[in-house]
Amino acid sequence: MSNGRRVLVTGGAGFLGSHLSERLLDRGHDVLCLDNFFSSSRHNVAHLLTNPRMELMRHDVTFPLFVEVDEIFNLACPASPVHYQFDPTQTTKTSVIGAINMLGLAKRLRVKILQASTSEVYGDPNVHPQPEEYWGNVNPIGMRSCYDEGKRCAETLFFDYRRQHNMPIKVVRIFNTYGPRMHPHDGRVVSNFIVQALKDENITIYGDGSQTRSFCYVDDLVEAMLRMMDTPGDVTGPINIGNPNEFTIRELAEIVIELTGTKGEIHFEPLPSDDPRQRQPDIAKAKEVLGWEPKTQLRDGLAKTIAYFDKLLSENAMPTLASSRLR
Ligand SMILES: NC(=O)c1ccc[n+]([C@@H]2O[C@H](COP(=O)([O-])OP(=O)(O)OC[C@H]3O[C@@H](n4cnc5c(N)ncnc54)[C@H](O)[C@@H]3O)[C@@H](O)[C@H]2O)c1
Repeated sequence: MSNGRRVLVTGGAGFLGSHLSERLLDRGHDVLCLDNFFSSSRHNVAHLLTNPRMELMRHDVTFPLFVEVDEIFNLACPASPVHYQFDPTQTTKTSVIGAINMLGLAKRLRVKILQASTSEVYGDPNVHPQPEEYWGNVNPIGMRSCYDEGKRCAETLFFDYRRQHNMPIKVVRIFNTYGPRMHPHDGRVVSNFIVQALKDENITIYGDGSQTRSFCYVDDLVEAMLRMMDTPGDVTGPINIGNPNEFTIRELAEIVIELTGTKGEIHFEPLPSDDPRQRQPDIAKAKEVLGWEPKTQLRDGLAKTIAYFDKLLSENAMPTLASSRLR
């Protein structure tokens, strides 16, 4: 018997979802971890399955779900371009129909629901850093639009459910997060650099490397999500969560080279279309409302992430893209 709440985590076998599920179990809650394994695998949560308070369910959020839970974290959505551009219409469906289904479930149960939104709702921002009041600069018909516009529409749905049905909603806008269990081939800059470095391959920088990103370590991010869920009913967000310390992509590459001791060298490729030049969260609201700010230094977080990928490589256990989609 548990004394905690029964918490549904959609996308629970993913990178962020697996860490969130772990923390919820640590807090004494029951976790219903739901995933269709589109961009992840059961391996991410295999170590949690021996816990009697953990339940893993294969389900696609674009289909209705009937379960009894006390809280919902809605994370289901492929999050990296290589995954969300593989089947763009499915990506939009996952964000939009998935949001409708999970909001419908929350409405029936009258429970809190938190949406994992994204800094991509700001598109290629004209305002820097981005506060929550900024409405963004998003291309509605580009290669990234299935994700960006899907997430924007999901936010709209959350706030309309709030206005129409007085639902206890929470929306967090997540900025670049990294850590163990990121997909090694998801094309995200941190995993790309680390995997290339560990294999002694050249480190690919798209563009000249002067574009900036801010990188939040996964433990910090999960802490903010938990605090957001625990806020009073009048706190809806959206609230930015991320690390405001800005690094150029070139600086990131140089730190990874130093920490791995790779023989690889930096190699430049053309910048893909719609790639934002700058991305940096304004986290004033998170500090004020959640009493939160990231604690993990980039070097420390990178060292833990490098150790994770190093282990995968040494055990020959690197997931491939195809295996994760077909599983
Ligand atoms: N990691 C980041 O830097 C970041 C940044 C901004 C927003 N986010 C958001 O956080 C959430 C989690 O991202 P992540 O980095 O863990 O990515 P991830 O791909 O590792 O996790 C997403 C999970 O959702 C699952 N999923 C996809 N479509 C589904 C569907 N139709 N039904 C059920 N499950 C489905 C995937 O299989 C995967 O396990 C996403 O919603 C993403 O948009 C992440």
